[in-house]
Amino acid sequence: MFIDSHAHIQLSQFNRDRDAVLKRAHKAAVTNILVIGFDVETSRGAVALAEKHSHIYATVGMHPHDAKDMTPDVIKTFRELATHPKVIALGEMGLDYYRNLSPRPVQKVAFEQQLDLAEELRMPIIIHNRDAYMDILPILEARHGTIRGVLHCFTGDVELMHRGLAIGFHIGIGGIVTYKNATDVQAVAQEVPEDRLLIETDCPWLAPQFRRGKRNEPAYVRAVAEKIAGLRGTTIETIGEVTAKNFQKLFAH
Ligand code: NI
Repeated sequence: MFIDSHAHIQLSQFNRDRDAVLKRAHKAAVTNILVIGFDVETSRGAVALAEKHSHIYATVGMHPHDAKDMTPDVIKTFRELATHPKVIALGEMGLDYYRNLSPRPVQKVAFEQQLDLAEELRMPIIIHNRDAYMDILPILEARHGTIRGVLHCFTGDVELMHRGLAIGFHIGIGGIVTYKNATDVQAVAQEVPEDRLLIETDCPWLAPQFRRGKRNEPAYVRAVAEKIAGLRGTTIETIGEVTAKNFQKLFAH
């Protein structure tokens, strides 16, 4: 069994064939999918999908790209949506210094507001980072002990991984690990302790090597598991099992 811990199948890229995508995931032994919101609309979309399918769960949150749209009303909406029994985490949230679609100070405020909400609701969080670990890690370290979650689509090196592990975070490995020159991510996939590893697609983006540049989907999480298994000298089934167990433990509610 495999669990895709980060998918955006609520997006319009899947409107034409969502049922076929879910069928392929089922055939590929992907037993659960966590659908990630990144603004109010996509958070509602994630919850709607989770309501429709027993094996799908949802998160609600505001991506740093859209931090400029954060208002007290948005937090109120997230707080309400988070009471839904299928909502098991908050995010994705974090900082993105690559595209800077919202000013950095605005990103930080939206991030802290969502961290406050996670502490209030005692919910795990999904962290998005791009070129911003130098600011994200101290923010998370300051809340060590009161928050938990996953550093999704981890692209740092082994040293950064250890800082994340030290504050109790899980490491989410996605399709990038299958790319030839992704040596940092491969080293992390090899060295991350078994009980902190999660696998994900981040679909429709970041398809693994065999579909690189095309639309990604939950079934392809197997390619991620296969690559990690090769790096760690174990079987794809073992990677599927341990990451499913980690998922259930982290997001138990
Ligand atoms: Ni994402």
